[in-house]
Amino acid sequence: MNALEKYITLHEQLLSDNIKLSSFDNHYYNTLPKEDKELILIDLKKGKYHTILLNSSIKVGVIGYIPTKMDPKIGFLQIIIDPKYRSKGIFSKSIKLLAKEHNLKEVWSTIKKDNIVSIKAHLKDGFKQFSEDKLEQWREVYLLDPDEVRLYKKFSNKEQIID
Ligand SMILES: CC(C)(COP(=O)(O)OP(=O)(O)OC[C@H]1O[C@@H](n2cnc3c(N)ncnc32)[C@H](O)[C@@H]1OP(=O)(O)O)[C@@H](O)C(=O)NCCC(=O)NCCS
Repeated sequence: MNALEKYITLHEQLLSDNIKLSSFDNHYYNTLPKEDKELILIDLKKGKYHTILLNSSIKVGVIGYIPTKMDPKIGFLQIIIDPKYRSKGIFSKSIKLLAKEHNLKEVWSTIKKDNIVSIKAHLKDGFKQFSEDKLEQWREVYLLDPDEVRLYKKFSNKEQIID
């Protein structure tokens, strides 16, 4: 690793160490790009949402989940990281914090097949894709669109305790 790479790694480490979740700020949410907001579902009745804060003050995104009918501790993940703060690992850190805050045992993400950046971010964070059979079953009963995939991540108790 050269000096520049070391600097970048350290910078990203510092950045993700200073991430916190605060209460949802609808005004801030409205300032995020329209095309990003079309990729997630904000349902303030069914879901639980937060604004993601950097250094306790800078708003860098929103995250939340909608509980599945099958188990309220399994949530459909909804996340947007502000374009200025992408590719810095805030995605991964925020999901851990969300799981810890709400004691989630699993999160699921429904992603458009052409949202390659999001699929890459999920896989990098250790999400796994449901089997093709499972995806087909959901598609047959219209619980998943043909142009979508679904990925999941499980959290152990240990993971929730450790930051
Ligand atoms: C998906 C999203 C939440 C990822 O957030 P993030 O904090 O940038 O995620 P990470 O820092 O872990 O970056 C993950 C990977 O995404 C990819 N990525 C991020 N921004 C990218 C960009 N502008 N162009 C190409 N790839 C990009 C990179 O592969 C990156 O990994 P790398 O930095 O090791 O190369 C963010 O891109 C986003 O808000 N997208 C719009 C909304 C959305 O799609 N939400 C999910 C709906 S299912």
